[in-house]
Parts: sequence; structure tokens; C-alpha cells
Amino acid sequence: MDKAQQAASKRNAGYHAAEMIKDGMVIGLGTGSTVFFAMERLGERIAEDGLSITGVPTSYQAAIRARRYGIPLSSLDEHPKLDTAIDGADQADPDLRLIKGRGAALLREKCVCDAAREVLIVVDPTKMVETLNAPVPVEVLPFASAPVSRRLAALGASPVLREGVKKDGPVVTDNGNFILDCDFGAIMDPESLETAIAAIPGALECGLFTAYREKITVIVGEEKGCRVVS
Ligand code: 5RP
Repeated sequence: MDKAQQAASKRNAGYHAAEMIKDGMVIGLGTGSTVFFAMERLGERIAEDGLSITGVPTSYQAAIRARRYGIPLSSLDEHPKLDTAIDGADQADPDLRLIKGRGAALLREKCVCDAAREVLIVVDPTKMVETLNAPVPVEVLPFASAPVSRRLAALGASPVLREGVKKDGPVVTDNGNFILDCDFGAIMDPESLETAIAAIPGALECGLFTAYREKITVIVGEEKGCRVVS
């Protein structure tokens, strides 16, 4: 799949999710290029059809995009329960388990996923895999990044501190933390791995999303149209 085909697939997935949003809904807004297509379409529906929605963004980047598209924003303080959330993923398996966090927004994304009654995951076909095998991002408290790294290595990963494009320092998340990208190879038991990572003090959250299969619908954009997996 070339870049143009991938962009068309992402756009179709995002637009499909945006069409599923109903008037009056409060929705979580994920971070990433695919969900930004959904925001673009939501912005059009607001401007053209008078759609009335409120968004809860998962990052400063998502908030800036949403404002650009005219989506009114709020927070989990105001709306601890969300009608739905739209988010992307780096990988999804047939059991609707996910790896997220390439955009370093996984901690807030998991809070929003947890708060939402249903979650629409928008992806292009390259994200669908039989077995999750991408590096798992772990958001780590900077104070504890060395001991957390050792604990993650003991679980079988080779943690790599995520750096910016110029490789001149760590990526700092919106929450002031670092990201360790952890390659575990093929992940045969994602639930147990997520539980094991959650037990490490200083590992604030990881990009495995295994506990939300019941409320997740994955929308896989194709070059023309999309397919829905739930
Ligand atoms: C951000 C994420 C993104 O949703 C994920 O990386 C997918 O991004 P994209 O839609 O740009 O491929 O988890 O933390």
C-alpha cells in the first residue's frame, strides 16, 4: 500500500466514524492522523448541518486540531462519562486488542477509552495483524525511568527511550513524562503483559489496550469505503 492509498484509507475510516456521531453527543477525541480525518468531517458537519457535539481531547495536538475544525471542547472533569470516543491505533488484532501510543498520547487515550461507552477505532489496513507484535510504548515517570527500564527488560523487552526527530533529547509527553518503546516480539498473551507492566511502580501506562474489547468497533478504511470489525 503506497502513501496515497494509505491516506485515502485513513480518510475513509475517519469519515465513516464521523458519520456515526449523533447530535448532542460528548465524544473523546484521540490523537493521530486517522482520527484527525474524523475531526475534519465532524467540523464539516458542524458547519454545514448544525451538528452539536462536545469533544474531550486526548492531547494538546488533538485540542488544537479540534479547535481548528470548530469542535467545542470540554474535559473529563465536566464529562466523566463519554457517549463515544474516536481514536486510532498502531495495531489491532482479530480479538480487538490494540497497541497504541506512537503519538505519545496513550495515557490520556486510555483514560478516555475507559470513560467512553463505545469506542470507534479508525485504522488503515496495514494496522490489522493476526498477532500483536509492534513495540509497546510505556509512559514512564522520568524519576524512575532506569528502574522501570530494568523491570521491562526482565519481562523480555529491550526498552528504548523515545527521542525527538533530531535525536537531541527525550520526547516529553503532555503529562511531563518519557516514553520507553518496548519490543517484545510477537505478543502471545497481551492481557498478561498489560497486567505485568501495570504492576511496575513508575510505569504510568502502556499502549496495550486489551480490556475494552466489548465496547470497541474497529473501522478499517479501504481505498474505497471501509469494513467494520466488532
Ligand atoms: C497516539 C496513537 C495513535 O492513535 C496511533 O499512533 C495511530 O496514529 P495514526 O492514525 O497517525 O496512524 O495511539 O498515541
